[in-house]
Amino acid sequence: MIDKNRIPTHVAIIMDGNGRWAAKRGLPKMAGHNAGMLAMKEIVKASDILGVKYLTVYAFSTENWKRSQEEVGGIFKLVVKYVDSELAELHQNNVKVKILGDYKVVPKVAVDRLEKSLETTQNNTGLQFNIALNYGSRAEIVRAVNNIKKDVENGSLTKDIEITEEIIGRYLYTGDENGNIPDPDLIIRTSGEERLSNFMLWQSAYSEFEFTDVLWPDFTPQEYERLIEQYQKRDRRFGGRK
Ligand code: IPE
Ligand code: IPE
Ligand code: MG
Repeated sequence: MIDKNRIPTHVAIIMDGNGRWAAKRGLPKMAGHNAGMLAMKEIVKASDILGVKYLTVYAFSTENWKRSQEEVGGIFKLVVKYVDSELAELHQNNVKVKILGDYKVVPKVAVDRLEKSLETTQNNTGLQFNIALNYGSRAEIVRAVNNIKKDVENGSLTKDIEITEEIIGRYLYTGDENGNIPDPDLIIRTSGEERLSNFMLWQSAYSEFEFTDVLWPDFTPQEYERLIEQYQKRDRRFGGRK
């Protein structure tokens, strides 16, 4: 049974396995991404019900541009479809949407929907739903360092500033601009792969990891709860000793 008093504050999910799900069924890849979107809808709802405060999903990485134009275009069309069909309900459920990543360079129709989601939900106070889109952790750290440099040049930071972990943290996508999101307590990756693929390298310093062989489109709230139960059995030490 899940201990309702020890729900992870921030769950981050590497939603993997859409392609294999489609291949197994002899379907085109986009059918897998579409089914993945439906699974994601259920997990947003489940997170809200469970009392997770921050849910982050890895939707598109800085490396995913290497895929075919057809697939990349299809994924952003799906972003449009998702916002058009879900934004009203997200807003009704008091969900606050944030985008982590360099989303302004994706196809314009998708940028428009993303900005509409940000604006519509900006004052909501419920679940914070972070979509990592055109996100890569290395690019995020490079951007943070460049922005620190800029702020020293324009005087918002003093020249003799001592760079600390706290300052770097504030300049990441998870920092000031998105409400200082706490580090993920739990990172889940589906589809049997056990790697980060450039996701939250800085923020995962003390995260717990749960891997499941379930392909993302088959991921259910039941499986999600099972992984949270597993997480609750862990003894988190943060380098200390009890
Ligand atoms: C994850 O599914 C979704 C994205 C990366 C956008 P994949 O498309 O990576 O699925 P597999 O790994 O090929 O099965
Ligand atoms: C990671 O999955 C990115 C997302 C889930 C959006 P990939 O399928 O792109 O990762 P690799 O290539 O297997 O490492
Ligand atoms: Mg994959």
